Amino acid sequence: MPNIKAKFLGTGKALPQKVLTNADIEKMVETNDEWIRTRTGILERRVTSREEATSDLAITAAKEALANANVKAEELDSIIVATCTPDMVFPSVSCIVQSALGAKNAMGMDVSAACSGFIFGLATAKSFIESGQSKKLLLIGVDTLSKITNWQDRSTCILFGDGAGAAVISAEPGDAGILSVYTASDGTQADILKVPGGGSRNPICKEILDDKSYTIQMDGPEVYKLAVTKMVEASEKALELAGKQASDLKLIIPHQANLRIIESVAKRLKVREDQVFVNVQKYGNMSAATTIVALDEAQREGRLKRGDLVELVAFGAGLTWGASVIRW
Ligand code: UT7
Repeated sequence: MPNIKAKFLGTGKALPQKVLTNADIEKMVETNDEWIRTRTGILERRVTSREEATSDLAITAAKEALANANVKAEELDSIIVATCTPDMVFPSVSCIVQSALGAKNAMGMDVSAACSGFIFGLATAKSFIESGQSKKLLLIGVDTLSKITNWQDRSTCILFGDGAGAAVISAEPGDAGILSVYTASDGTQADILKVPGGGSRNPICKEILDDKSYTIQMDGPEVYKLAVTKMVEASEKALELAGKQASDLKLIIPHQANLRIIESVAKRLKVREDQVFVNVQKYGNMSAATTIVALDEAQREGRLKRGDLVELVAFGAGLTWGASVIRW
């Protein structure tokens, strides 16, 4: 049996048309552009309209990835969607995507790991491919956090945006592909970042609509500290699993939540500025979509060429965190 790897054949992305600038948010809550820029690095973000759902973005990104990979939807045997903002409780977003693409030979399932979702999806993709269960799969990272944001809470509403990224990943002989994935969780810290209402613990009712507990609640400074330490830990573990060092990386793509978090992680890993991909200024935190949208942009901008080593790393609610080293 030759050395089979989970290789990226193509990527795509989708962003809502509507741009929400810091100046727009200044009109909604007591904040200002300077505070948002200096504390987060975010200048603007994209938000879906009332009619646009998570699957709409996922389907557009998926079509672009399939075209980029030159793969037909019928060739897919699996569709994995990482999201914490599905269209509805069920069916899964992956089944909605499967139908829209006509990917009739693919099974579909969603992965729930909040902002770390795409990394957890990579762990699933690697296992599916290396075990022989899957030959060609579509992995999507997509979220529409704007739908579960409290637009009157200035400590959270400045941070988030909507978007989707998709990758066609195939079983291929050779050295290119997912070299390692490290994933971790700590449910004891679940309370620092959560959406407490609207699930089976506190089903939708008038009180939940009134107190807005169906929206994101976050202890920002605590999440900030853990995001830095856990993303450093995950980056180092995934590099170790791949037998590589940070200096070997052409690019590191950290979860795009806050520029200051990205800079702290980069400093602790001792990577150069030109090794770090940043697009948080344009999109804010798109949750499961951040690393795959950035990966798509990096290779289209020529910052990633075949044979280069790239590492993705993320941290999110759960808590969950993880990283993956990929030979492009
Ligand atoms: O994927 C994981 C998801 N989340 C994250 O990674 C986010 C992690 N956390 C963060 O990025 C940062 O904690 C924030 C950007 C959310 C907040 O920045 P901070 O430097 O930690 O500020 P803070 O929460 O300590 O607040 C400092 C001050 C407070 O005022 P006082 O108590 O010092 O008078 C806040 O009330 O800034 C105030 N503040 C604001 N002021 C203007 C909080 N939000 C705003 C705002 N505009 N939007």
